[in-house]
Amino acid sequence: MAIELLVAQTIVDLMSADTRRWLRELKVHDEIDSTNTHLMRRSSSETIDGVVCFAESQTAGRGRRGRTWLTPRGQSIAVSFGKNLAIPVSEIGPLSLVVGVGVARALDSLGIAGVGLKWPNDILLEGAKAGGVLIELAGIAQPLVVVIGIGLNVGGGNEVRERLGIPVADLSDKVAHLSRNTLAAAVLEHVHAAIVEFEQMGFAPLRERWEGLHAHQHRRVVLSSANETIEGIARGVSMTGELILETAAGISRFSGGEVSLRADQRVC
Ligand code: BTN
Repeated sequence: MAIELLVAQTIVDLMSADTRRWLRELKVHDEIDSTNTHLMRRSSSETIDGVVCFAESQTAGRGRRGRTWLTPRGQSIAVSFGKNLAIPVSEIGPLSLVVGVGVARALDSLGIAGVGLKWPNDILLEGAKAGGVLIELAGIAQPLVVVIGIGLNVGGGNEVRERLGIPVADLSDKVAHLSRNTLAAAVLEHVHAAIVEFEQMGFAPLRERWEGLHAHQHRRVVLSSANETIEGIARGVSMTGELILETAAGISRFSGGEVSLRADQRVC
């Protein structure tokens, strides 16, 4: 099937008046090193709040924990935007969870079922990774400035699967003729709205949403980090965005590591 390229004006036209008021610039790059890196560079010399950068391909796409993020040309959504945040830096912890809720709402608005979230930043489709979120701090003086990067597989899932040798999900397998421009606008719209909600209402209402989408909620998981592996039952997230695990030693909160499912039976 022919690839539908992203068109900046089409994406802008699909956005609400509210989101358009915040928007200062929206560009689609045919190729770039990394949309996050591009905005981080720009943030040192200019205001990046409302600047949105899409790329059809990235030569040095970046994932969490220094990993490479593959962006097959025209077969994913790779977007970053700059956002000023009206919150103190001490409250930024749950931001990647908030962005995940926004992406899940966007997919829901397009009729894509089977979406789940994995702590801290994975977008899952029927249990396999369909996308991720990478947030970087560009400025800690008030206002706080962040670069929010989102990657989603839309047609290039097979290539990513083959090159990385891991199971990945692809949104275009779920919806026939999924328009990348419509998806791009929906993601921006819902993620922006979720962040504004977070700034105005705090994390409590979004935390409930996140736990409702949490693919591992009340399931046995293993949390691995460089120095330890901990088993427990995932009990949701704290108000500061940490993962809550019920372990043999009691309830503990974790701010880093990689979660995997240990067994898939539900625990009440
Ligand atoms: C992860 O799951 O590890 C996070 C992946 C984030 C990928 C996106 S694609 C757009 C933006 N630019 C990057 O270099 N990374 C993010």
